Amino acid sequence: MAKVLIFGATGVAGKHITHALVHSKEGIAQLGIFTSQNTVDTKADFIEKLKSKGVDIHVGDVTNEQDVLAAYKDYDTIVNAAGRNAILSQIDLLRWAEQTSNIKRFFPSEYGTDIEYSSETSPHEKPHQLKLKVRAFIKEHIKRLEHTYVVTGPYAEMAFGRMPPAIEVAGTFDVQGKRAVLLGTGDEPVSYTTMPDLGNLVVAALLHPEQARNKALKVNSFTASGKAVLAEFEKQTGEKWNVKFTPMNELKRLEKEAWEKENPMATVYTLRRIWTEGGTLYKERDNKLIDAEDTETLATVVARVISTQTKAAI
Ligand SMILES: NC(=O)c1ccc[n+]([C@@H]2O[C@H](COP(=O)([O-])OP(=O)(O)OC[C@H]3O[C@@H](n4cnc5c(N)ncnc54)[C@H](OP(=O)(O)O)[C@@H]3O)[C@@H](O)[C@H]2O)c1
Repeated sequence: MAKVLIFGATGVAGKHITHALVHSKEGIAQLGIFTSQNTVDTKADFIEKLKSKGVDIHVGDVTNEQDVLAAYKDYDTIVNAAGRNAILSQIDLLRWAEQTSNIKRFFPSEYGTDIEYSSETSPHEKPHQLKLKVRAFIKEHIKRLEHTYVVTGPYAEMAFGRMPPAIEVAGTFDVQGKRAVLLGTGDEPVSYTTMPDLGNLVVAALLHPEQARNKALKVNSFTASGKAVLAEFEKQTGEKWNVKFTPMNELKRLEKEAWEKENPMATVYTLRRIWTEGGTLYKERDNKLIDAEDTETLATVVARVISTQTKAAI
């Protein structure tokens, strides 16, 4: 039975991971989160909800060794879901965990695109750099702690969302407007993970320590092309949609321009270019390894996106 401490529990990914851990019917003996006073103040309702479910709340500064060590003493597993701007905070967290004998396992904040998909191109992708530094630190300095990188590919709910007008060339599904922009030719398959499945897959990895030990687990919910996603939206909305395409050459041009102009959306272009190029595809995914083959479908997540966009428009 694992005793799990979560960092980044109230974030976009962390909320889903925390929810799945709270509702896990087996394998979790104790659950806590480490968070800042600011999050406790600004997300008070969510924190109270966690408390009511028996989750322990440890408040402190993630960069303060004493605060972190005080929380570490009650747990054996760390699940980190830090946001992109806090990825490097994990290096100290790993160092301190390595020195804390009761901590046995560490799940670094990954939950996305495979940062070591290709030995030729992945090392040079700008959005991968911070996570690559964390992996390099683990390779070099972590001897005792076990680690698992949960690699999920893109979240379907986000990838099938409606983009703001300025960036809809990077792909969009607009339910109200019945219009979509597809990337590449629209035929390229991409493997997606839904956000509830993200949580369930992390729990499954936690419950299969032998299979998940010291590796990147490549898991997902389903694989679909842009045209297949569009066809599902059209089926469920009962109407043909207006479709445009952003071909690969144009996507690459926009990506280059965005990085040159230091546009904060540059990461979005890069990740979507990687997904469209096939950077989420494997001969075999690892779901079976952790007994997690029962995942959500394209139809389920499209229904969810339609409901979310429709409610937002009311
Ligand atoms: N596959 C995909 O499509 C996809 C999409 C989004 C994210 N991701 C990945 O999921 C992981 C989490 O990303 P996210 O978008 O969920 O992150 P996020 O919501 O931006 O932030 C997650 C949490 O990080 C902590 N945090 C933020 N800034 C911090 C700072 N300066 N110092 C210390 N802690 C800080 C906060 O923890 P508290 O909760 O304690 O306040 C925050 O809630 C990342 O590895 C990201 O790359 C993947």
